[in-house]
Amino acid sequence: MSVFMSIPTGVLGGIAGVLQVISLLSLVLLLFKVAQFYLHRQWLLKALQQFPSPPSHWLFGHNREFQKNEELQQFLKWIDKFPCAFPRWLWGSNAFLSVYDPDYMKTILGRSDPKSIDAYGFLRPWIGNGLLLLNGQAWFQHRRMLTPAFHYDILKPYVGLMANSVQIMLDKWEKRITQDPYLELFEHVSLMTLDTIMKCAFSYQHSIQLGRNSHSYIQAVGNLSNLVFSRMRNAFYQNDVIYRMTPDGRSAHHACQIAHKHTDQVIKQRKAHLQNEIELENIRKKRHLDFLDILLCAKMENGSSLSNEDLRAEVDTFMFEGHDTTASGISWILYALAMHPKHQQSCREEIQSLLGDRAIITWDHLDQMPYTTMCIKEALRIYPPVPIVSRVLSKPITFPDGRSLPKGITVSLNFHTLHHNPKVWSNPEVFDPFRFAPGAVQHSHAFLPFSGGSRNCIGKQFAMNELKVAVALTLLRFELSPDPTRVPIPISRVVLRSLNGIYLHVKKLH
Ligand code: HEM
Repeated sequence: MSVFMSIPTGVLGGIAGVLQVISLLSLVLLLFKVAQFYLHRQWLLKALQQFPSPPSHWLFGHNREFQKNEELQQFLKWIDKFPCAFPRWLWGSNAFLSVYDPDYMKTILGRSDPKSIDAYGFLRPWIGNGLLLLNGQAWFQHRRMLTPAFHYDILKPYVGLMANSVQIMLDKWEKRITQDPYLELFEHVSLMTLDTIMKCAFSYQHSIQLGRNSHSYIQAVGNLSNLVFSRMRNAFYQNDVIYRMTPDGRSAHHACQIAHKHTDQVIKQRKAHLQNEIELENIRKKRHLDFLDILLCAKMENGSSLSNEDLRAEVDTFMFEGHDTTASGISWILYALAMHPKHQQSCREEIQSLLGDRAIITWDHLDQMPYTTMCIKEALRIYPPVPIVSRVLSKPITFPDGRSLPKGITVSLNFHTLHHNPKVWSNPEVFDPFRFAPGAVQHSHAFLPFSGGSRNCIGKQFAMNELKVAVALTLLRFELSPDPTRVPIPISRVVLRSLNGIYLHVKKLH
């Protein structure tokens, strides 16, 4: 009996010992984390001391002030009190300087600070180390390699492909509105811009708007936009291992798989095409290659220059950047025109006098629609598709007003707040296309929908062409008006979206 009793006692003693060690280690780890939190917070407070900030909680930062879906609106409330910039505390040991002054923008964009890991790192499982996330020499090499894909001679024939994708979308609208004249734009437009980028950059031969398969990619992109944003704002979701175990982490993993399946298929099909000697010869003869062929040929000519991983990252980056931004742009522009029927009509008249009723649009038409271009720019000002970008300072910086920041601080360039800053734009909430009339004077860094400096948008010209084609062809066929019962609420995600969709009343013109 005594032997029988002694075994469990020994085992219990062993377990208690292990538990003691675990408790001790946990305590040490906790103390280490508390010290780390304290020291980093002290460093941030000192680094940001020249910039007053709205009151914040020592642990929860500005979380109570910035409700998840009202960030953009909250920034606007504080512009008056904190001119130029203020520190935004995400939690006790995580803060960045949010900047919305043109001189500040100019100072930052004139340097070559890298993208901030805190803000962009969570995009990596999805779009990999493509042009958007790369830094330093690797970024420079990729940018140089891909710039020819946006050459004038390449972009010219894309206008026809863009027009074709827009017409397919408008045909669908025409059928839809016989049942319900109210349409939610964002999903329709996303599918159309995905169709366009697939045809233009990836030499895809069919229209994905006519099939069913691409809806899942669009949905995955929407989910990932929300998930990446929530992760940035949640202190407990920062660690990869912990995040992967949460429901959000599992959803993000699943959405990435769907997105990658789509891009893998595109690469596979084009590679198969290039196995064909005639097709390969055609490519070799081309003076300017399109985007995917540049990537594939760079790999074929010099096997080590572009790994499969790099190739995939660029395809994922351009597939996403090339359609989600333009979908946001087009949807919000059409909404702005629906809200301002007089400007809508003036654009329509300009386009009718340019194209007649033939609805055939070419490259040469694109710089002959000045009024429509002014309206597009004004909508991009009020609704910038990329509302915020970030950099981490690689060396100290001093702004024109003499205030400075040390190396290591993250600065967030808040284009949305810049575009609504009353010190920069008088009556910023008023839609006034004449701000962009020829001869109108602005600060060089007052209007930055495509960012600025060396890391500006590589697809700017492509995007502006697509916006013009989409707006022109839509206004020729339909009259747009808002749905007063569903006013869209802009929210900041990777691109500007609407919390409750963008619904418009769409009426066919005779
Ligand atoms: C209305 C449409 C668009 C807007 C408003 C827009 C805006 C921007 C902005 C603000 C940036 C800077 C991002 C940062 O600093 O983190 C950027 C970068 C970029 N954009 Fe766009 N973009 C648009 C369309 C496009 C299109 C159509 C493509 C591709 C076909 C594209 C590809 C890229 C890429 C690859 C970068 C990273 C460039 C680099 O870092 O070198 N964008 N875009």
